[in-house]
Amino acid sequence: MVRVSAIVVAAGSGTRFGTAKQFATLRGSRLVDIAVDAAHQSCDEVVVVLPADVEWDGAPVAASVRGGAERSDSVRAGLAAVAPDTEIVVVHDAARPLASSQVFDAVIGAVRDGADGAVPGVPVSDTIKRVDGDRVVETVDRASLVAVQTPQAFRADVLRRAHASGSDATDDAALVESVGGTVVVVPGEPANLKVTNERDLAIAESLLSEANRS
Ligand code: CTP
Ligand code: MG
Repeated sequence: MVRVSAIVVAAGSGTRFGTAKQFATLRGSRLVDIAVDAAHQSCDEVVVVLPADVEWDGAPVAASVRGGAERSDSVRAGLAAVAPDTEIVVVHDAARPLASSQVFDAVIGAVRDGADGAVPGVPVSDTIKRVDGDRVVETVDRASLVAVQTPQAFRADVLRRAHASGSDATDDAALVESVGGTVVVVPGEPANLKVTNERDLAIAESLLSEANRS
């Protein structure tokens, strides 16, 4: 029986990066392969979501499916391919090559412990201001803010319900919140950056070198 399924979303176009960054390499491995490997360590099956013109040629996965125009469309495509009896679904960005298995286990553990969803969060270190154009409207209290990462874990039935509306959101937790689900935050990892711009790959490389030294 499949208890934990992972969906690795890798169907974006990488507009800010300049190419489909999920196929860029970090120390000789494609970001998507790193993400699929990490997911396999903590989950019973992995579904990978790819651009329409790409055939999966990485490690064996339970399914590879075609993504959609928005990230949430891609998650929905992945969700349709996970085992029907799965209990927990973990959604992970292919663009986050430094997520550790501890963070996968932490979000899965929080859902096993009763939450509908669990997300890794890290404290915000910059001062955050709400603006209207170039005018500052207010300074937001940073103590009550976290920056949220993937992997994110959810009870499968709640995630299916959240996605049934077909709405868009940059993270799945927001959709689960919108259907009344309880989402908890577990400690994220400052190094778990999302490769967004070209220089982020170099940053990821130097974080890896640093980790190997200690
Ligand atoms: N993603 C996806 N399907 C989409 C959009 C995004 O599967 N329609 C995936 C990306 O491949 C990535 C993750 O969601 O692994 C996070 O998205 P993001 O960092 O925004 O990647 P892109 O959308 O590819 O980049 P950009 O927004 O710069 O175009
Ligand atoms: Mg995007």
